[in-house]
Amino acid sequence: MKSDRRITNLIITGFSGTGKSLVAMEVALRLNWDFLDTDDEIVKQTGKPIAEIFRQDGEARFRELERETIRKACQQRQTVIAIGGGAIVDPQNYELLAKTGLIVCLEAKPETIYERLFREAARDPETVVRPLLAVDNPLERIRQLKASRQPHYAKADWTIHTDGLTIGEVAEEVIRASRLLSRTHPHLSPLPSRERKSGSQLESDDDIACVVETGTQSYPVFVGCGLLDKLGEKMKQAALSGTATVISDENVFSLYGSKVEGILKDAGFAVNSFVVPPGEETKSMDYAIKMYDFLVNHRAERDDIIIALGGGMVGDLAGFVAATFLRGMPWMQVPTSLVAMVDASIGGKVGVNHPEGKNLIGAFYQPNLVLADPQTLTTLPKRELTSGWAEVIKHGMILDEEFVQFMESNVSRLTKLEPELLARAIARSAAIKAQVVSQDEKEREGKRTILNYGHTIAHGLEAATQYKSFLHGEAVAIGMVGAAKLSQRLGLLPSAAVERQQALLQKFDLPTGFSGLDLTEITRAMELDKKVKEKAIRWVLLQDIGKAVIRSDVPQQDVLAILQELTEP
Ligand SMILES: NC(=O)c1ccc[n+]([C@@H]2O[C@H](COP(=O)([O-])OP(=O)(O)OC[C@H]3O[C@@H](n4cnc5c(N)ncnc54)[C@H](O)[C@@H]3O)[C@@H](O)[C@H]2O)c1
Ligand SMILES: [Zn+2]
Repeated sequence: MKSDRRITNLIITGFSGTGKSLVAMEVALRLNWDFLDTDDEIVKQTGKPIAEIFRQDGEARFRELERETIRKACQQRQTVIAIGGGAIVDPQNYELLAKTGLIVCLEAKPETIYERLFREAARDPETVVRPLLAVDNPLERIRQLKASRQPHYAKADWTIHTDGLTIGEVAEEVIRASRLLSRTHPHLSPLPSRERKSGSQLESDDDIACVVETGTQSYPVFVGCGLLDKLGEKMKQAALSGTATVISDENVFSLYGSKVEGILKDAGFAVNSFVVPPGEETKSMDYAIKMYDFLVNHRAERDDIIIALGGGMVGDLAGFVAATFLRGMPWMQVPTSLVAMVDASIGGKVGVNHPEGKNLIGAFYQPNLVLADPQTLTTLPKRELTSGWAEVIKHGMILDEEFVQFMESNVSRLTKLEPELLARAIARSAAIKAQVVSQDEKEREGKRTILNYGHTIAHGLEAATQYKSFLHGEAVAIGMVGAAKLSQRLGLLPSAAVERQQALLQKFDLPTGFSGLDLTEITRAMELDKKVKEKAIRWVLLQDIGKAVIRSDVPQQDVLAILQELTEP
């Protein structure tokens, strides 16, 4: 029978008091699936509590209702179904459930069950005391009934011992089990993942900042202080296995390399590490080829994993290698710079530089997982950190006024890297980027363009100075001031908003102007930067804080006037 299983649901079974309903609800929340409790359905349908149905109509009638409810429930898809503790005993029910769902049984010791039921009854005396407790020796009754059902519970695909675990922990186990089973049991069709609110911040898993959901891949972005310790665990949850190749630069590897290797080995992964010199020059075809050689020599296979441990340079390079070696290997990002956490690690743009231009060679290749531990920012050089704040502020400016307020109210705590607030800011910023790229994975529909706020002038400044004077975020900060002023000049944005943005950038120690540069050099570089020849530059401007607009009709003399303004102290 098992061979024709078409798994579309998750079934949670087990004795009373094992937390079936709450766990099923929590799993549904985390997967964004529907939730259904067969007992609840019966109560809804009959308008009577279960105990009353037993009393008035007899157990046979209840089982009949239960069978009908289960039959209907099995027609659902992507539903987490909690079933009554005795339902699985019926062979007809079991047959149906096993055909369409992965059955997970929650187990607990009789003592635990007794205690939980007792507590529940005490907490909510309105509910009819469970028949199980209304006998002389309830513990013994639980033992007997449980033993009699055990052979049926044993038919579940997976059993979880819930003693000592919280509902959240059990839910996490259920999800892990479902992923493992759908991978290792070929007769189980993989659990489909339904459309989620992409880029939305999920409340249910403390570590998940958002889910990036693109046409080619959907993956979680985890953000949390101390999360590096859970790297192996999160990889296993994402069903990653095989040998892990850690790609990192010398700076980052010297700080976190051995720790990461240790965590991976403890989690059972074989590990090889490839360490490259830090700096943008390394993001090249030369180093990509060195990495291919390394992977060939270590006999890397298609199911092995590449882990990018470092800033955006490492992420882009390692991702490019992952995209191309063996026509694509699983990979994940462990960003360690602020830019990488909120920007470079999200969205799947990977690539290397060409001597003639940055990022000229590349691909869109989404990772399987992103795991950011803001604690690693404590070792990031101050100037790099400051530069990263520019992209964080940018995300607020284009889409989220509330987030801008949050940043304004917490400047000193954020710049001091206070863990909890820092993680919140990074999670929100990453979620904004995720939301945008989820709508326009390959930058075809123009929605991704708003991420270029501040970048038109920034690219001009960077190119005019041969990428030597400004860090990217510094140039972006100046570019944002320029774009806001331009918005004001075109009558889109009030001056108060321009000043508000400027004040925030300054509080984060970012530059808001420049000097000593030839303005025509900058405009020429801006022209060159445009993706399509002959077309006008697409300016990302602001209508309000948190509200970006795109305009292609900005007169050149206005741009020049703004550049001039940016040079004035
Ligand atoms: N793919 C994308 O969507 C995307 C987006 C933005 C930027 N990028 C790319 O990202 C790169 C810039 O990223 P970046 O600013 O992270 O640069 P980077 O990777 O060069 O890192 C900056 C410096 O910080 C060091 N460093 C990183 N993490 C550290 C830590 N925790 N402790 C101590 N030192 C640390 C690095 O060794 C390096 O010297 C560029 O190549 C850019 O093109 C890509
Ligand atoms: Zn940028």
